[in-house]
Amino acid sequence: MSPKSLVNIGDYSREDIIRILGTASRFKENPNRDLLKGRVCATLFFEPSTRTRLSFETAVNRLRGRIIGFSDAATSSSTKGESLKDTIMMVSNYVDLIIMRHHLEGSARYASEISPVPVINAGDGSNQHPTQTMLDLFTIYETQGTLENLNITVVGDLKYGRAVHSLIQGLSHFNPSFHFVAPEELAIPDKYKSFCHSKGIRYSEYTDFSAEAINDSDILYMTRVQKERFTDLMEYEKVKNVYVLHNEMLSDSKENLKVLHPLPRVKEISQDVDDNPKAYYFQQAKNGMYARQAVICDLLGIEVK
Ligand code: CP
Repeated sequence: MSPKSLVNIGDYSREDIIRILGTASRFKENPNRDLLKGRVCATLFFEPSTRTRLSFETAVNRLRGRIIGFSDAATSSSTKGESLKDTIMMVSNYVDLIIMRHHLEGSARYASEISPVPVINAGDGSNQHPTQTMLDLFTIYETQGTLENLNITVVGDLKYGRAVHSLIQGLSHFNPSFHFVAPEELAIPDKYKSFCHSKGIRYSEYTDFSAEAINDSDILYMTRVQKERFTDLMEYEKVKNVYVLHNEMLSDSKENLKVLHPLPRVKEISQDVDDNPKAYYFQQAKNGMYARQAVICDLLGIEVK
C-alpha cells in the first residue's frame, strides 16, 4: 500500500483539515523545533516557484530537517529523457518525503501511487494546489475567527487557477457562498459548478467585477491570469488585465473583509491596496510556512505539541 500523501485537498476530510490547521497554529507560536532531525525531504520543482518552494524549504530548515532537490527541471536528468517514474523511484531512495510541482495534471497522483515515501502536491498543472488551500484556510480562520458560512468572492482566472480549484473543495466542508468573477474565457469549469451543486453550495457567476460582489464579501480572493497555461498568447493578451482591484473599490466593503491572493501578483491588485489594513496577502504567504510544517509532520506521523 502507498503511504499517505497530500495530492488533492478533496482527499482530506473536515476533521483532517481542522487537525492540520490546529497544528499550524502551534507552529505559528513556535516554528523552530527539532522535529525533523535526521530526516531528509526533497523539493522537485519542474515548474517555477517562489513562495511554495521557499516556504517548504524554510519549514523543513526550521524543524532541523535537511532538504535536497531542484528548482529548475533543466538541471535534472528529465532533460536527458528520464521518466517521472524513474525520477520518483530514484529520489525516494534518498529521502523521507517528496514535495513536487509539475506541469502535468495528475502527475502528483501518479507519483504518490508509485512512491514508497509520502508525496506532497505543490501544484500539478491547472488541477490542484492543496497546501495553498491549507494556508488559505488557516488565513481565513485567522482573520475571520471562523471558516463557517462565509461569503467568498473569487476573481480572475477561474479556469486555470489551481489555487481556486483546491480552495472550492477545501471550503466545501464549511458552508460557503461563492461569487465567481471571471471573463467568459476563464469561467469556472463545469466540474467545479457540479461539485458545488452536489454539496449544496450556493454560488453566482459574474463577468463584471462589481461593487455589489465586493461589498457582500468576507473574503475577496484575487488571482492572476495564468499566462503559462495559454496555448495562444493573443488570447492571454485579451484577458490579462481584465480586473484590477484599486484601493477606492474597498471603501464600502465590510469591516471584516480581507483581500487574499495566492501570489505572485501581476497587475490585478494595484499597489495602492497594499497599505490598506484589509490587504492580507503578504501575511497569507507567511502562513504558508506554518501550514506546510503542519502538513509535513502530519504525513510523517510526527506529534506536535
Ligand atoms: N502561490 C504560489 O504557488 O506561489 P509560487 O508559484 O511562487 O510558489
